[in-house]
Amino acid sequence: MKGVVLAGGSGTRLHPLTRITNKHLLPIYDRPMISYAIEALVQAGITDIMLVSGGTHAGEFLRLLGNGHEHGIERLLYAYQDKPGGIAEALGLAERFVAGDSVLVMLADNIVERGFGHMVRAFEQQGGGARILLSEEEDPSHLRHLGVPAFDGEGRIERIVEKPDDPPSRYAVTGIYCYDPTVFEVIGTLEPSGRGELEITDVNNHYVRQGTMQYDVLEGFWGDAGESIDAYYAVNDFVRTHGANKG
Ligand code: G1P
Repeated sequence: MKGVVLAGGSGTRLHPLTRITNKHLLPIYDRPMISYAIEALVQAGITDIMLVSGGTHAGEFLRLLGNGHEHGIERLLYAYQDKPGGIAEALGLAERFVAGDSVLVMLADNIVERGFGHMVRAFEQQGGGARILLSEEEDPSHLRHLGVPAFDGEGRIERIVEKPDDPPSRYAVTGIYCYDPTVFEVIGTLEPSGRGELEITDVNNHYVRQGTMQYDVLEGFWGDAGESIDAYYAVNDFVRTHGANKG
């Protein structure tokens, strides 16, 4: 299984900090944000990784991570996204790297308290399709900035709504996804959303319609540090007090 870490985008929600650096290089406690995603993948047993970045600060990732060996990565490749065209478009850049394998995708602004190796193992047993990680959220106002699943009577996801005014459940779709190799064909069929991006939620809804979408619920804290400046500080406070990637 390959790993793709997505660290592009313009980070407008964290302006003006992101005028002078890439969002994923901002500190979370004592380390640049990106290093938590890298650590999480390596802990989950994924050591063949492509990092997709963009903008004017992309070179800093190379300075930080180099060939990745210091971080436990066997092979680290880099891709460059010309313009912020969305998560699904960024993933599309990894097609030749993934080369017919299955892939775990992680948004580099997502920070987890506990690892997700169990999800990777479950996806390997699943026999194709997609698998996502959900996190239960207390605060519905928070859910309005995220992807939110709606469930049928048997607890299966029946659709995912991106940034819903009226969240259909208390679960957030985290930025941690497993796909079989068909994901690149799916990306090829997408149309840009209202915000002009190829949405990962449209990719996920394809697998929901196909009946091949499974999920796990993450234990412990999950944060999207890029969601807002308040979320950024909430993640910082959590990691400073409790740590992250605790196996
Ligand atoms: C993206 C996804 C959203 C998901 C979130 C998790 O949101 O579109 O479904 O809940 O990541 O971090 P974005 O950061 O692009 O607003």
